[in-house]
Amino acid sequence: MCGIVGYTGLGLAAGQPATAETTPVPSGHPLEVALEGLRRLEYRGYDSAGVALVGPGRDDVAFAKKSGKLGNLVGEIEAHPMPQATAAIGHTRWATHGGPTDVNAHPHLADGDRLAVIHNGIIENFAQLKKELLAEGVFFRSETDTEVAAQLLAREYRRAGDLTEAMAATARRLEGTFTLLAVHADDPLKVVGARHDSPLVVGLGEGENFLGSDVAAFIAFTKEALELGQDQIVTITPTSVDVVDFRNKPAEAKRFTVDWDAAAAEKSGFESFMDKEIHDQPHAVADTLLGRTDVDGRLTLDEIRIDEAVLRAVDKIIVIACGTAAYAGHVAKYAIEHWCRIPVEVELAHEFRYRDPILNEKTLVVAISQSGETMDTLMAVRHAREQGAKVLSIVNTQGSTIPRESDAVLYTHAGPEIAVASTKAFLSQITAAYLLGLYLAQLRGNKFADEVAYLLGELRDVPAKIQTVIERGEYVRATARSMQDATSVLFLGRHVGYPVALEGALKLKELAYIHAEGFAAGELKHGPIALIDEGQPVFVVVPSPRGRDSLHSKVVSNIQEIRARGARTLVIAEDGDDEVRRYADEIFWIPQVPTLIQPLLAVVPLQIFAMSLATAKGLDVDQPRNLAKSVTVE
Ligand code: AGP
Repeated sequence: MCGIVGYTGLGLAAGQPATAETTPVPSGHPLEVALEGLRRLEYRGYDSAGVALVGPGRDDVAFAKKSGKLGNLVGEIEAHPMPQATAAIGHTRWATHGGPTDVNAHPHLADGDRLAVIHNGIIENFAQLKKELLAEGVFFRSETDTEVAAQLLAREYRRAGDLTEAMAATARRLEGTFTLLAVHADDPLKVVGARHDSPLVVGLGEGENFLGSDVAAFIAFTKEALELGQDQIVTITPTSVDVVDFRNKPAEAKRFTVDWDAAAAEKSGFESFMDKEIHDQPHAVADTLLGRTDVDGRLTLDEIRIDEAVLRAVDKIIVIACGTAAYAGHVAKYAIEHWCRIPVEVELAHEFRYRDPILNEKTLVVAISQSGETMDTLMAVRHAREQGAKVLSIVNTQGSTIPRESDAVLYTHAGPEIAVASTKAFLSQITAAYLLGLYLAQLRGNKFADEVAYLLGELRDVPAKIQTVIERGEYVRATARSMQDATSVLFLGRHVGYPVALEGALKLKELAYIHAEGFAAGELKHGPIALIDEGQPVFVVVPSPRGRDSLHSKVVSNIQEIRARGARTLVIAEDGDDEVRRYADEIFWIPQVPTLIQPLLAVVPLQIFAMSLATAKGLDVDQPRNLAKSVTVE
């Protein structure tokens, strides 16, 4: 969804020497900082982009905006250079109200082009507010809800004469979800932001400060940050950061240091972020496991600040998440139930909230989210807490909203995930959820310390085995290239292989725009087998032959059933599984691992397959059509 950047510094043009009166601005020209921030937020998904600048000696806002990719905006700025400035705001828009045109792109201007506003979210009462403003003779240039906020802010500014106060008054009138950023020509060192159910973080610099939808916007310049609370307004100048609430009363924001490396958000020689992130997976899993044991090797999860007595009393776990994160939760269900003997339900966050779920103080709700901003998951978190349940979130992005609104957070350490399609987040989410399962098993006495240590040892062996799967990727890539014309691909799995099949199908839909369905293999005869005819490609995730009795043989039977009806079988199986080999048209080998760990390996060929097929079709694997990385509206 929309990306937002704000910057204020002392306004030297790049390369201009500092004078006695000015402090050098380490990050350079505000325009360049804004464009760099937007480049780093591109991954969120967008269809137009724009910037606005204010600087001393100018009595209006300079702006540029263009539909399409950031390159179009940069081309526009090269054709019509922008002036020197002291503050900038930048925006990548994912269209909601009004199509992705130049006019609808942000910023939106008001107050005789002296005020500029950018916005993420949806203003639900915009029609009513627009009517009110139209009656006052306000002229609108676009169809957007954002322009209504800009005009409202202009009216409040004329009344208050102060941008922060005007923003507070505006925020009080708006319904829906919003992050708003504004600059005014009267105050060229100031950027004011407001947030309500939509993300905004502050980056702290020296002689400069930043705002961003997430920390990726400014990690190239600073790692020091402030996490804003709900319904807060922040005013930044080069030397100050002030936070107030919507009543304009001083408010607290939490300081933190970003532990992501800016270089981790670069392609580092790979063709795409997705390819790079697939290759990052051994590290993502290893880093998520790192530092979670004490000197005696006992699993310790210090972040889980929920009372141990409460965790011992938990009688039900509900995992809430969306998309890939929900499939990670689905995998974790098998492990947690097996290790802890606690019933685990997995529910899509948007369904959970509207179905009147039964939960109480003995329910532990586990919210899984890479971004920490998914609105459906956030709303489900709030709903769960209102019902008295404790919420523990598994999140990758520091400074995001879901951890802030949870009782405890277990961070995954996957580093920034830029490609829209999740890869390393999936593996690190499963890893973190497994840590939680083992921790609960240890705490509740379901597993002895040595059993937990043994299972942790098995998890620590996983990164090297993921590396092996990645190194065997060329055969998967070649198979994918040969299947460019496929119009439908099915995925089958059983037990933990079932959510892997669902994830494999999701990856193919997202990236290659091919119809793909994942099924529980046992469900085949209850309907899906009717889809099988000559040449239908079917991926099958085969469980370990050394695992639970009959699981393996049941899946091998399923392969025979579909093969007998003409399916082309693409099988993921463990090294040495000679039985399955004869039923596979193509076979992708993965190293031997215990049953519950297999998803961490089995999904990798499916990720590589989807990426390679999409690449062969000439598609953009990092930014698939219609999708946003961070879904911040319901
Ligand atoms: C997966 O490839 C997608 N990007 C999507 O399903 C994603 O997992 C989902 O939107 C949840 O996002 P979150 O982890 O940031 O909450």
